[in-house]
Amino acid sequence: MTKFASSDDIREAFLDYFVRRDHQKIQGSSLLPQNDPTLLFVNSGMAPLKPYFTGASRPPHPDLCNVQPCIRTRDIDDVGDRHHLTFFEMLGSWSIGRYFKDRAVELAYGLIVDTFGFPKDKLYVSVYSGNAELGLQPDHETARAWERVGVARDHIVYLGEDNFWGPAGETGPCGPCTEMFFDTGDAYGPKYVPGGEFDTKRRYIEVWNAGVFMQLDKRADGSFGRLPFNSVDTGSGLERMALVLQDAQSVYETDLFRELMGGVKERVGSSFPEEACRVIADHIRATSFILSEGVSPGNEGRSYIPRRLIRKCVALVERAGVRNFDYPGLIDIVVRRFHHHYPLLKQRKDKIVTGLVQEIREFERVIGKGLERLDHLSRANGPFTISGKDAFSLFATYGLPVEIARDFVKEKGGTIDEEGYHVEFQKHQEISRASDKNAGQTWLEDGALVTRTLAGRVSEFVGYEVMDADAQVLALVQAGVPVKEATAGAQIDLLASRTPFYAEGGGQIGDHGRIQGANGAEIRVLDTRKVGGVHVHRAEIVSGAVREGDAIRLSVDEQGRRATMANHSATHLMHAALREVLGTHVRQAGSLVDAERLRFDFEHPSKVTPEQLRTVERRVNEFVRQDFKCEISLTTYAKAVESGALAFFGESYGDEVRMLRFGPASTELCGGTHVTATGEIGLFRILSESSVASGVRRIVAVTGEAAVEYTLDQDQLLKDVAARLRATPRELVERVEQLVKKGDDQRKSDPGSRKVHVDPRAQTVALPDGVKLVAARVDAPTEALGSEASRIASDIDGVVVLAGESDGKASIVVAVSKQKGAYYDASRLLTLLAPYIDGRGGGSVYLARGGGTKPGGLDSLIQNAPSRIAEAMKLTS
Ligand code: ALA
Repeated sequence: MTKFASSDDIREAFLDYFVRRDHQKIQGSSLLPQNDPTLLFVNSGMAPLKPYFTGASRPPHPDLCNVQPCIRTRDIDDVGDRHHLTFFEMLGSWSIGRYFKDRAVELAYGLIVDTFGFPKDKLYVSVYSGNAELGLQPDHETARAWERVGVARDHIVYLGEDNFWGPAGETGPCGPCTEMFFDTGDAYGPKYVPGGEFDTKRRYIEVWNAGVFMQLDKRADGSFGRLPFNSVDTGSGLERMALVLQDAQSVYETDLFRELMGGVKERVGSSFPEEACRVIADHIRATSFILSEGVSPGNEGRSYIPRRLIRKCVALVERAGVRNFDYPGLIDIVVRRFHHHYPLLKQRKDKIVTGLVQEIREFERVIGKGLERLDHLSRANGPFTISGKDAFSLFATYGLPVEIARDFVKEKGGTIDEEGYHVEFQKHQEISRASDKNAGQTWLEDGALVTRTLAGRVSEFVGYEVMDADAQVLALVQAGVPVKEATAGAQIDLLASRTPFYAEGGGQIGDHGRIQGANGAEIRVLDTRKVGGVHVHRAEIVSGAVREGDAIRLSVDEQGRRATMANHSATHLMHAALREVLGTHVRQAGSLVDAERLRFDFEHPSKVTPEQLRTVERRVNEFVRQDFKCEISLTTYAKAVESGALAFFGESYGDEVRMLRFGPASTELCGGTHVTATGEIGLFRILSESSVASGVRRIVAVTGEAAVEYTLDQDQLLKDVAARLRATPRELVERVEQLVKKGDDQRKSDPGSRKVHVDPRAQTVALPDGVKLVAARVDAPTEALGSEASRIASDIDGVVVLAGESDGKASIVVAVSKQKGAYYDASRLLTLLAPYIDGRGGGSVYLARGGGTKPGGLDSLIQNAPSRIAEAMKLTS
């Protein structure tokens, strides 16, 4: 077999093979699905491409290929064996409506056998055995195609539902498929004989779903329709391909995991079971990727996945009694290994570490008790069952996810009453929903309810052209329930046959305004949202009553909307100017546009200098004065990108995209509302530039009247300050400098408020676990110590204790670096040391401050700090 020591070579060979055969290489999309609420994470290469298969959108080329990062939540329980993973990279190829079964088989065989050199005798393939209900016959056509290219008949296996793939999520394209397996040999179970069992769990490892033959479209009600044309969708896990091509026994031995696995083993010691090491390696890798996309651990939907993954690691580590496990070090390895292909990992590394550490801390406080409780519940002779109530209370009280409890209980020979757990969970959700309602959160969020209520009637959006429109009330929903009528005082969701109200989207807020009933009713629209694709007005009836079918007039708050449009257009101009001034790496990371201001987050590695900001400000104002017309065209995604529109793959789908151009200055895909020409923006001023996350900057700016007001205010401020100092604005800098110098001189003569400076090299010691500690006496008030302590803690990546005397009182500050915050807690350490000075205090995990009444104890505090901390860590371990 051809050897591929590096998975990068496999990636290359795969893409190159398809590109040479007239496939266009496209970019993989983010892990987070766009416009697909039925899917938590992208789970396959085809998921972001769904609209191509249904014909809703045209691909840039009929045949495509790429590498797509994927998360398969369904596989999490299987992680630990040789080849299942939570996160994996999928090598994929597609033919959208061009070739079908025969060509797909030829291409697959050509790659696997001729290019990768798989020995034929180790290659097995499966085909679909048919399903009468779906009108699908056994797939003899594909079987014959395999025979034609050279696969022996007894290596072709007919399988049932395992060979029907999709849809990704709950609805969409799906079909029968054909898969390729590698025979890993007698060590992993008996050989397949026709008619016997084909063991895909251990011996025969699937390496490529060589073709889903997309023919059907699954609908929301569970029924199937025909797709308008047939397509091929293939996908192969890079890790599994590497397993075979690198002669490894598991994916964890491939170059993709080797270092990470080594890192895990080094940290847990040799007695830790192999399977648990694999779980930790997989979970930390998947978590790093998920957090890099901006998801934080939590209890709902998507955010529950990183919570579950992290908590599983903590539970394994805790149960094995390993202390001070260095999670951030493992993230380092993941980032190092994968950032070349996934730059977000590096850009957002701090965020990943902070997210992980916070989750660990939260869980670590209760996990010990949770596991104890679980042990207690499990202590029965013979098989036992944990009631749904107990399982739920393990989750609610100790944060122990049911998936983890289930694993541990299973190991002990017990089970969890899953049904009972589910009932408890539902009850809990109903209670929290009811309390949400009581808190006034009554707005309509349920897309399915909107679809049902409208029953085919449509709501037309006319807000690009006009701000007032006559229409009829299509439906009213009150506290989540459709109603026929509502009266003064009620909060309602109102759906209309036509609306000029823009619904929140693309960073632009939803419109406000009023609705008047022909019968005299007065309704205030507080916000507009799209629910299930329909514009929904969140409104309050001020007077009168409104009924389904009533004639109404809808009027957007014109002043607010005009200001919002100016801010939105200015956002586009600023985006263009930033790319001109800082470089084309600038990429939008988020935006918020309302009537008051615009906020724009973008990727850029360092602070934007004042000089650069001024250039951007000037450039945008130039665009404004040039009064570029806003030209809007509806086109296809591919054409828009071809003509240079700013858009990123996976961001926008649909038959048509809306391309917005302001002369030569800016071209972007955007669904928002805009000025008719840039002159309407009037004036553009930047208020601030700051950091939001590592590698992401934020600019806040204003336009029009707000920009004029801001400029006048600044001017007035300058004049006021100058008047106070009896100087002209021009003399101000010099005068202020004099004042500052005077202040500095005064401070120097007052030792209590001087700036502290500690040289860390002098006092650094190592705690028993290798973590560095600086404990130093610095006579200064507490306020003066904090920032110095934090600075040193982050420099040495360890723990810092500064304590000293000021005005006859003792002060103490403890700081812990971000990374070491995983297992050292500054406020706990402060509590530990405070008795030396009869003191007290508090703070966070990273920084705690306190004071005491016994300065006489300071020296012994500093002297004993290392041993006290070491001892206490041992006690808690
Ligand atoms: N979408 C197919 C899969 O993920 C190729 O297996």
